[in-house]
Amino acid sequence: MLDAPITRPRVLAVAMQKGGVGKTTTAINLAVCIAELGQRVALLDLDPQANATEGLAVEMGPDDVSMFEVLIDIEEDRVPLADALIESKWGVSVGAAHRAMRRLERYGLGPSGYTRFSRQVSELDFDVVIIDCPPNLGELTVAALAAADSVLATVKPGPDEIKALIELQRSVQETREGLNPRVNIDYVVSTIFDGRTLVAKDVRRNLEADWSSEYLGEVSQTVRVAEAKNRREPVVFYAPETETAADYRRIAKLIDERMPVHV
Ligand SMILES: Nc1ncnc2c1ncn2[C@@H]1O[C@H](COP(=O)(O)OP(=O)(O)OP(=O)(O)O)[C@@H](O)[C@H]1O
Ligand SMILES: [Mg+2]
Repeated sequence: MLDAPITRPRVLAVAMQKGGVGKTTTAINLAVCIAELGQRVALLDLDPQANATEGLAVEMGPDDVSMFEVLIDIEEDRVPLADALIESKWGVSVGAAHRAMRRLERYGLGPSGYTRFSRQVSELDFDVVIIDCPPNLGELTVAALAAADSVLATVKPGPDEIKALIELQRSVQETREGLNPRVNIDYVVSTIFDGRTLVAKDVRRNLEADWSSEYLGEVSQTVRVAEAKNRREPVVFYAPETETAADYRRIAKLIDERMPVHV
């Protein structure tokens, strides 16, 4: 009998260098929704703020390690990525973040840090890996871009959001030229979206015009997201009947259909 083909996971980095634009909310809810579609999903929290780790109620036990130990430059302290994943309650395995990762942002991942991380991600025995990035274009975001097949950019309607998207595109292009030829902004989502406001309508019009193949639509604004966050639950579980939950389920399905499987 022939062996089943070995596939590597499809890797999606959720990125935008601006703070508070819905990256983490998007990463955790898409992770949970894609897992519900039957995929084995790992979520890697590369933000020292650890919001994704907290949002999925992941508690680190005494024997658990975070992404800090995975990414650290010092070989004898390093732990393989596959050994660092922690089961969450939501059917998603999590590479937890820790505030010590701020040191990595400041001092870097070391000479082969990006390629080492990228190789470890590609060797994970999962179908989909989602990486939550911090709100900057520093070391940890570059590590995520180096490991990703696709970037999902979150755009919160506001005056300079399109400019921020273009700036992110420049960084992705630099990563493509140097570290990772396959990475691309393949998906754009408008988050925390209130269709009654003029600025939201403007952002939608711009994205539909300039990012027509990448644009996956809007995620509606709702107070339920803050409530879910307080309870450390993804909103798709906490308030599955909301438009926001339906938006995330729809976008998860689109990404699952569109992201190519690598053999
Ligand atoms: N659809 C939504 N409706 C209402 N509030 C939302 C929605 N999505 C996110 N928020 C709120 O907006 C804030 C920022 O969201 P989130 O933490 O996901 O953004 P972020 O880009 O990851 O932020 P950071 O850059 O700090 O990591 C949070 O308080 C979150 O609860
Ligand atoms: Mg975040």
